[in-house]
Amino acid sequence: MKEQLIAIREAAENSIKAAKTMQEIEELRVKYLGKKGELTALLKQMGSLSSEERPVMGQLVNEAKALLETAISEKSAELKKAEQDEKLKAETIDITMPAKQSKVGKLHPLNTVLNDMIDIFQSMGFDVVDGPEVETDYYNFECLNVPADHPARDMQDTFYLGENLLLRTQTSAAQIRTMENRKPPIRVICPGRVFRADEVDATHSPVFHQIEGLVVDKGITMCDLKGVLEQFAQEIYGSDTEVKFRPSFFPFTEPSVEVDVTCSECGGKGCRVCKGSGWIEILGAGMVHPKVLASCGIDPEEYTGFAFGIGLDRLTTTRYKISDIRLLFENDKRFLDQF
Ligand code: DAH
Repeated sequence: MKEQLIAIREAAENSIKAAKTMQEIEELRVKYLGKKGELTALLKQMGSLSSEERPVMGQLVNEAKALLETAISEKSAELKKAEQDEKLKAETIDITMPAKQSKVGKLHPLNTVLNDMIDIFQSMGFDVVDGPEVETDYYNFECLNVPADHPARDMQDTFYLGENLLLRTQTSAAQIRTMENRKPPIRVICPGRVFRADEVDATHSPVFHQIEGLVVDKGITMCDLKGVLEQFAQEIYGSDTEVKFRPSFFPFTEPSVEVDVTCSECGGKGCRVCKGSGWIEILGAGMVHPKVLASCGIDPEEYTGFAFGIGLDRLTTTRYKISDIRLLFENDKRFLDQF
């Protein structure tokens, strides 16, 4: 029995030493120390020994059991560590590798110019208001002194959505909504998209952008209009920019003007951008027609005002020397990435 014990112990010790995985170790533990294991079987045979032999043999078996238990736990610890080392090695991060470049979004050039314009007007005390893109005939035309049969309707080719519903052709519609909702003094700008059924070409798009301005108060004159628009033009184009006011016609202003600035490309000498004239037209403006004030419930005897409508797309194409307005709407990433 003693020889048997020694043989089992040696075989077990060797196999434990040779084990390469945790699974093998577990199998060896069951094989030798488990309920039906070889050492356990040996203990069961102790009954057949004499009373002198029994304690001696019992001690030897227990010693062998303790020995194997220690061997198993040492080997498992060793295997676990090796396994972990292996895993760490496989998962190491090479922090010297170059990082992936992440793409950062940019503002569309129209928004960059719009933000500059908003800053300029806010610094002069203007609020920014919003208006709907789908408008009624009343706000887009009727109340702006353009009745149904007025020839001025031909100035703007309109997308109608129904008899009285349309896509606004001008942000001027927001003037009326503002005067209905606010009491003077009023000082607002309203930027937004406008729509016209124009042929598409390098300078025309059926969707474009305007910034409407409106000032109503007691004692507002043409001088205030000139001062505000001159300051705006010089802040946008530079302080040596000259501004020219030309008489014009809009049904909702009297008198009406169109405003030109010296061409920022050639400084006024005449070039391709200004078509040789040295000037670029940037906006329409005028003193709010007394009829328009009255139809919004503002007494034209007490209050006067001026209004203007600036084309944002023209301002953007001249600032960035963009030769075709369509580029602003195609959203080609290769084009937009340049700004
Ligand atoms: N709404 C005009 C247009 O689209 C531009 C304009 C002219 C707006 C004179 C105004 C203004 O507010 O006073 O052509």
